[in-house]
Amino acid sequence: MPAQTQPAQAIEALLTEVRSFPPNPSFAASANIQDPGVYEAAAADPEAFWASLARELHWFKPFDNILSWTPPHARWFEGGTLNVAYNCLDRHLSGARRNKAAIIFEGEPGDTRVLTYWDLHREVCKFSNVLKQRGVQKGDRVTIYLPMIPEAAIAMLACARIGAAHSVVFGGFSADSLRERIHDSQSTLLITADGGWRRGNIVRLKAAADEALEGNTSIKQVIVVNRTDDPTRVSMHEGRDHWWHRLMEDAPTHCAAEPMESEDLLYILYTSGSTGKPKGIAHTTGGYLTGVYATTKWIFDMKDSDVYWCTADVGWVTGHSYVVYGPLANGATVLMYEGAPDWPKRDRFWSIIEKFGVTILYTAPTAIRAFMKWGTEWPGKHDLSTLRLLGSVGEPINPEAWIWYHKFIGGERCPIVDTWWQTETGSILITPLPALSTTKPGSASRPFPGISADIVNEHGESVGTGNGGFLVLKKPWPSMLRTLWGDDVRYREVYWSRFEKQGYYFAGDGAKTDSDGDYVLLGRVDDVINVAGHRVSTMEVESALVDHPSVAEAACIGRTHEIKGQAISAFVSIKDGIEHSQELQAELKEHVTKKIGAICRPDDIFFAAELPKTRSGKIMRRLLRDIAEGRALGDTTTLADPSVVAALRSQYEDS
Ligand code: WTA
Repeated sequence: MPAQTQPAQAIEALLTEVRSFPPNPSFAASANIQDPGVYEAAAADPEAFWASLARELHWFKPFDNILSWTPPHARWFEGGTLNVAYNCLDRHLSGARRNKAAIIFEGEPGDTRVLTYWDLHREVCKFSNVLKQRGVQKGDRVTIYLPMIPEAAIAMLACARIGAAHSVVFGGFSADSLRERIHDSQSTLLITADGGWRRGNIVRLKAAADEALEGNTSIKQVIVVNRTDDPTRVSMHEGRDHWWHRLMEDAPTHCAAEPMESEDLLYILYTSGSTGKPKGIAHTTGGYLTGVYATTKWIFDMKDSDVYWCTADVGWVTGHSYVVYGPLANGATVLMYEGAPDWPKRDRFWSIIEKFGVTILYTAPTAIRAFMKWGTEWPGKHDLSTLRLLGSVGEPINPEAWIWYHKFIGGERCPIVDTWWQTETGSILITPLPALSTTKPGSASRPFPGISADIVNEHGESVGTGNGGFLVLKKPWPSMLRTLWGDDVRYREVYWSRFEKQGYYFAGDGAKTDSDGDYVLLGRVDDVINVAGHRVSTMEVESALVDHPSVAEAACIGRTHEIKGQAISAFVSIKDGIEHSQELQAELKEHVTKKIGAICRPDDIFFAAELPKTRSGKIMRRLLRDIAEGRALGDTTTLADPSVVAALRSQYEDS
């Protein structure tokens, strides 16, 4: 569908968008879920609701207890045994899905691979045997540090098949971040690749892995995928490192799926918190799979004929739940793309959609805003008429981006599902259902059936329709995190202490409802910032800055950014006798990249003689935010030395 260039008045109209979009009747007529009564039925008996969805999965042994809830610990579907890989693969082999594409892969250089369900099952069984031969046992942890290639999904599913928990670390994270995550999870085996392709360059994962493994780590063996076919660049450590393809050559093709207890650990995924080191979010088997299976089926309206593309990397929870487990549990065809959206040109996404006939696209607002900026001529070059549903995730979507997505990508016919959830929630919790919801740009609609959410004030009291407050979840849900790996005290503290009396889960997000009761997400209320849909802890960036020998003190804030949603501004006071310079700014940015990874690289570094603090010594981030965004300063009465702010501000404006 060729897109048209918009006249200025049309753009003006978009900025004040107030339209709402009722479900498209032709879409609704064949949707997986059409009965609006589902909300009420689920609310009347959420446990029965979830149990009926859980029963759509394959269980070796049926569960006999739906939920046991000892706040803040939930146990779902106890007594039952199942295997996630069996549900994602074996279950589809007996019927017509046997020869259906499970994964269609396109590498950044343009290479493609298609794995049918039969193929994927075979590769997963073989790799499960490889893991076993390498000594990996049920309950062990395996760290996966790979690019977006089919081997990432194969490795995850193989772990699930034998009952080992994976900890996937995003390939953009640094050696230090990888080491920290390996150490915390005490993984014994690491799966990585020589490299991955990004904007025509090779991201050298094996080199970073080698650095992460220097000294004493729990990792005994490393399996290396040959992705870039340039083995000369990789040093293999005798006895420790093995090539994936060599190990796979002799691996048997049969491997029985391990029957797992419903509450056995499936994976750990690290995410940033407002304080301290990254948190190892622990997800278990039966509840998690039920959550991702049901939400994929209903929210994305997943059908056998779909070609579904979620553009997230498997290093994030969206990649876990909606590239791998949710869609494969539904027997879907999943598209995986390795590289950047603007390589070699800015129409790469649209060319992929046209090439493979993608029907469902799930991406992030930051990408949509970049596409908007690049202009409609890029999608306009391609036939996007196969698309039938669009999704958004990771950060609030601004109405302009929503409308642009609707008009220029969805051809005004595709429903848009703006889905709110978190690494901790495991699956989508607030979202439209495409055949039932009247959508509004900027609103994530309402809680999924069976989910009990609310917006409360600081006393935990519901604020009522039309008002804003803290987003909470009032009842346990199947795919919720079970604890923080190795730190249950912190689990209680981070999520359950704020509304302990009420027993509510505190999400860390602000939200309000509009006059119809639809949810509008307002962003984080803690010191976590959302940069291009990725969670970044200001504290982690500050620690990385302070780690540099020139830095005395640092404070980071998220400032509004046109494309990324938020960008990191760092205010840094340097040690006496050191000169501030552009070179030092560049060096500090590089230092953060090296310490954590490029997603945490500050956009601006601002040198400050002193940081504004309250009389009790707390850095006043709110003021820094005001300064970075050029706003009039708020209340400064608690400030120890108001002249610090004035000085800072004038320097900032001059810089
Ligand atoms: C934010 C990503 C507004 C939110 C799945 C949440 C959103 C954090 C939305 C979780 C949305 C996610 N609208 N904000 N549709 N989706 N967020 O753990 O602040 O990487 O707490 O999980 O992203 O980020 P995470």
